[in-house]
Amino acid sequence: MSDSKENDLPIGIFDSGVGGLTVLKAIRAELPYENLLYLGDTARLPYGTKSPASIARYATQATAELQKQGIKLLVVACNTASAVALDTLREQMRPLPVIGVVEPGATAAVSARPGGSHLVLATEATVRLGAYRKAIETVDPAATVREKACELLVALAEEGWTDGDIAARIIRRYLDEASDSHFQADSIILGCTHFPLLKDAIQAIASDRVLLVDSASTTAAVVSNTLRSGGRLRDSDKAGSLRILATDGATRFARVGGQFLGQPLSYADVELVDL
Ligand code: DGL
Repeated sequence: MSDSKENDLPIGIFDSGVGGLTVLKAIRAELPYENLLYLGDTARLPYGTKSPASIARYATQATAELQKQGIKLLVVACNTASAVALDTLREQMRPLPVIGVVEPGATAAVSARPGGSHLVLATEATVRLGAYRKAIETVDPAATVREKACELLVALAEEGWTDGDIAARIIRRYLDEASDSHFQADSIILGCTHFPLLKDAIQAIASDRVLLVDSASTTAAVVSNTLRSGGRLRDSDKAGSLRILATDGATRFARVGGQFLGQPLSYADVELVDL
């Protein structure tokens, strides 16, 4: 394949559901001429409550589907899959680059609040592996980290219940459980790609001085740098295409995903695939 044909291949992005669209949106803003191929593994969502072995198997199968379709770079737009399976996916994709979301998220938080106290809201699996704690402590040994599993927030985001009384009560309970007199957060890291959909609701409950951080724009910057330095940017002034694959529930995916992308999606825009 010629270089220009190879550079026309899409960036592959996957998550367990619609959450990774938060990362896709940031990549599209940063790299509007790139073709994008998104896969939401909605049939097996949530990943966050599953065992590492199952999560690794799902992530490997999602990656194989994107490889089959043809991609030039993989973004693991799921903190849970990044925490569990990044090395395995890098091996699978070699020599093509693979970018996860945990390190970019940790870097964004540490740059914004050096030596700060970070509360990480994430899935059970990401918390169990201490993925953010390790990533933050590597870059900033002076930082204090507390991690809190918030599984219900994944369901709220997938349902599109991102504001209102129910979302507020659930968020308040998680934040109350995560705080005590020894720990006052300077930043809240949205350590699950579903949670930026709840950003306003979380900010409304956290104190105004707490900074909410997500990995979307930092990840998009890493994607951009990686393609640029590898000579793999698409050479075109035409807006890139977007193809969306899901493993189940095209109608639900279109309803929630469309709201989030800020463009109407119909179920016909979502192609169902079987992994
Ligand atoms: N959006 C995913 C993450 O960033 C996981 C949600 C789930 O499937 O549990 O961790």
